Amino acid sequence: MSSTELYSRLREISLLEGTAALLDWDQQTYLPKGGGENRASQLELLATLRHERLTDPRLRAAAEAAAVSSDQSDQENGRALLRLLAREAKLPSTFIAERTRLGAQCFQVWCDAKPANDFAQVAPLLEKLISLARQETQLVGFDEHPYDALLDNYEWGGKISWVRPALLRLGDALPDLIARAEQRPPPQLDRALPLDRQRALSEALLGIVGMPADETRLDVAPHPFCTTIGRGDYRITTRFDEHDLFSALFSTLHELGHSFYEANLPLAWRGTPKGSAVSLGVHESQSRLFENIIGRSREFSQVLSRLIDLHGKKTVSPEEVYGAVNHVRRSLIRVEADEVTYSLHVIIRMELEIALIEGSLSVKDLPAAWNSLYKKYLGLTPPTDREGVLQDVHWYSGSIGYFPTYVLGNLYGGMIRRALPNLTAQVATGDLRSIGSWLTERIYAPGGIIQPRELIEGATGVPFSEEPFVAYLKEKVA
Ligand code: CO
Repeated sequence: MSSTELYSRLREISLLEGTAALLDWDQQTYLPKGGGENRASQLELLATLRHERLTDPRLRAAAEAAAVSSDQSDQENGRALLRLLAREAKLPSTFIAERTRLGAQCFQVWCDAKPANDFAQVAPLLEKLISLARQETQLVGFDEHPYDALLDNYEWGGKISWVRPALLRLGDALPDLIARAEQRPPPQLDRALPLDRQRALSEALLGIVGMPADETRLDVAPHPFCTTIGRGDYRITTRFDEHDLFSALFSTLHELGHSFYEANLPLAWRGTPKGSAVSLGVHESQSRLFENIIGRSREFSQVLSRLIDLHGKKTVSPEEVYGAVNHVRRSLIRVEADEVTYSLHVIIRMELEIALIEGSLSVKDLPAAWNSLYKKYLGLTPPTDREGVLQDVHWYSGSIGYFPTYVLGNLYGGMIRRALPNLTAQVATGDLRSIGSWLTERIYAPGGIIQPRELIEGATGVPFSEEPFVAYLKEKVA
């Protein structure tokens, strides 16, 4: 098989993935409730077709040939592809179909169980998903810890042995910083803004980050996310709260950071490993760079103040913006947490996931275990499961091993901040293009062919550690 045929097969697989992404986007934005069952069948079919193509022996043969080709790009794509195929080949298609169907079903039940505050309603399906995840660790295999087999799916090369200690050290450093930050009085600011003005503000951010208006859509979803349907089609979602203009602004900035990464991957290699995002941790480092390190800086507060004046028809001084978006308080809801307390929410989830996969924690004991870790790390007890174990979609759609990538994103972001030349001076100009070029050259250009930790260490010259992120937070709360 020639490399041309390899690339046309890969292109078809990426078309299937884009189609599934579109159906998933629709499920989270516009799908009427009655369509849930049918949507689960559609997604199951697409997942099965994708799996069939990925396990086709002819694709494997082509990847093997490419891996030893004299062309360097073919070689890199071939090697990266073989790694992906090896994992896929270990999972029988019946397993894939069952996991996809159960994930979609459990998601639908969770949509009712969360507002009803009824963990028992969704527990049986969650139990099945956890049991499938444990099965997956056996099917995929691991060197050190079963959880590594799941984490590696989201963060290539991710292992408990280096991820967990860094997260726990961060967790140890935070209480002191939180205590200091909490001494600041809460900002007094009227954050209300009509929804149409908030929409105009969010759309203005698209241009500031550098996303082309004719390739980007902005919609509303209860849990904001972004997805790539294909070249020239980036979907961002946000949620508007008429009482708090910053809620949508920062959620939009976050998702824009993700889309900026997707849109600036090497165009010529779309649909191949060289043109793909490398990991969720690196993805999250980009969203958090734009949302927090840039978005919540003193310099960007000036940019935002001008934007709010222009598109929001409201006067908020840069100092008021800065105070409002850097307010630190321990709270119960991860997605509403400030950047100092945020990582604790994730550490709690990582510890629970590890226990579920090791088998030392059962699903029926999960709500109580959740509450006791919130008490331990944040000193708070959720009054209901809705504000506790039911708050996040991940586990209920079958994503287990995903959470640590959020904090890895913070840690990579700290390393990038240390390496980015004249970051604050550039942000102050309100023109983020040279930051975008630096990121594109150093982090996006290799696509998905270098392990994430190695990629960020190489791009920044900073060894992996929680220290640069802790130093960043220390400066902010000083
Ligand atoms: Co994100």
